[in-house]
Amino acid sequence: MFGKKSDQGLSPSIVPPKPPNATPAHHAPVAGATIPDLKIGAKAATQHAAEPKPTAEMRQKPESYYDIKSTIFNALIDAIDLTQLGQLDREAARDEIRDIVNEIISLKDVVMSIAEQEELLEDICNDVLGYGPLEPLLARDDIADIMVNGASTVFIEVNGKMQKTGVRFRDNAQLLNICQRIVSQVGRRVDEASPICDARLPDGSRVNVIAPPLAIDGCALTIRKFKKDRLKLADLTKYKSITPEGATILEIIGRVRCNVLISGGTGSGKTTLLNCLTGCVDHDERIITCEDAAELQLQQPHVVRLETRPPNLEGEGAITMRDLVKNCLRMRPERIIVGEVRGPEAFDLLQAMNTGHDGSMGTLHANSPREAISRLESMITMGGFSLPSKTIKEMIVGSIDVIVQATRLRDGSRKITHVTEVVGMEGDVIITQDLFVYEIVGEDAAGKIIGAHRSTGIARPHFWDRARYYNEERRLADAMEKAEQREAGNA
Ligand SMILES: Nc1ncnc2c1ncn2[C@@H]1O[C@H](COP(=O)(O)OP(=O)(O)OP(=O)(O)O)[C@@H](O)[C@H]1O
Ligand SMILES: [Mg+2]
Repeated sequence: MFGKKSDQGLSPSIVPPKPPNATPAHHAPVAGATIPDLKIGAKAATQHAAEPKPTAEMRQKPESYYDIKSTIFNALIDAIDLTQLGQLDREAARDEIRDIVNEIISLKDVVMSIAEQEELLEDICNDVLGYGPLEPLLARDDIADIMVNGASTVFIEVNGKMQKTGVRFRDNAQLLNICQRIVSQVGRRVDEASPICDARLPDGSRVNVIAPPLAIDGCALTIRKFKKDRLKLADLTKYKSITPEGATILEIIGRVRCNVLISGGTGSGKTTLLNCLTGCVDHDERIITCEDAAELQLQQPHVVRLETRPPNLEGEGAITMRDLVKNCLRMRPERIIVGEVRGPEAFDLLQAMNTGHDGSMGTLHANSPREAISRLESMITMGGFSLPSKTIKEMIVGSIDVIVQATRLRDGSRKITHVTEVVGMEGDVIITQDLFVYEIVGEDAAGKIIGAHRSTGIARPHFWDRARYYNEERRLADAMEKAEQREAGNA
């Protein structure tokens, strides 16, 4: 067998000789004291017929399963030649592992059903060839986030709700090892010396790792899963995150090159919304995106994607978001998209918006459009630009056209709660006007939030002339009117 060490590697050191009266592997009682009883199927069998059967990764496996797994895993590692295995393609390596694991199982007289054996084999293959216990979670497209808090606690977010899974790692060393495997693919490292790391999985999922000693209970790994079917404005309408008229208005805002700031809390859907808005950009525009970990999925043909870089071990070589945005200006961009504005790059982005790069966009962490404006102000103030407050405000008014607010409500649903225009200044105060707001009315018996999007009755948004310039005036007027009619219907 290719990839397998000589047979002596398998029998004497790892696998104890069979007892003389041993029965065949699949029917044998548990062999010896080293292999505990395996009852992983027991819990599923007692499940009530009407309840949905939990998937393997949601089930809490008994301790005995992990004992068996680690015995078989150790035997496997002693038996195979990892360098040779690494040269095989995934399928061949899998077959190889399958053969050896089956052999170990039968030599050790482990009692297992075929299904349990398959599950164990799958787990072991994932450990050797992939991201270990994370693999089944990574394979699911309904998961938004995977949060690992040390080796034995893994949470996921599905449909806006947190759930604890039964997934666990062998120990913190295995978890750290898998984190290393993930970040090394983008040329980074995570260890005691550099315990914080941002990375990306090959599929585009965003990854953050913080390792001990900073994370006290073992590595904390957070993955924002990449959605294969990226959400579009039509999907947001389907999920009732926005009304169809609201979606049309956002589409127009994206197309007619309004400068947009998307504001929202963590995981509220800012990046998704940014993706949707960029979907409305004409295909002949040159777009440059700047992100910490590239997440955006622009569909246009003329896109340059840039990513920041953390400093190396000597603390040198960092490329900040500000460096990227400044450099963008020399790349003849038509639109600049900043994944997340969180520091002094706010100043450069506003300047870019102000100087002929209309249609630039960015996201920012804030809980309301008002708060978004004051966050922008404070980012610029803290960036050391020593500008008077009024100048900063004027700059914001002169640059930002629209603020779109995304919110994750407590029932897990995500809504666009405000589409707000920045219209001008009165004295020292920035004046905004809401085109749409989401109003919460109450909560139903199942805990779902009841609410509705309300039009504020503005017939002519501030970006009307821009819409006219792009020949979108009619569509905008229609959408505003429909929103008004819906409002009258609701009343
Ligand atoms: N309107 C929506 N309806 C349902 N799911 C959504 C909606 N918007 C976003 N999501 C899902 O929510 C998750 C988080 O979305 P997203 O990455 O856009 O959030 P974010 O605000 O950018 O988060 P972060 O602050 O971490 O950058 C994703 O899995 C996304 O598919
Ligand atoms: Mg985001």
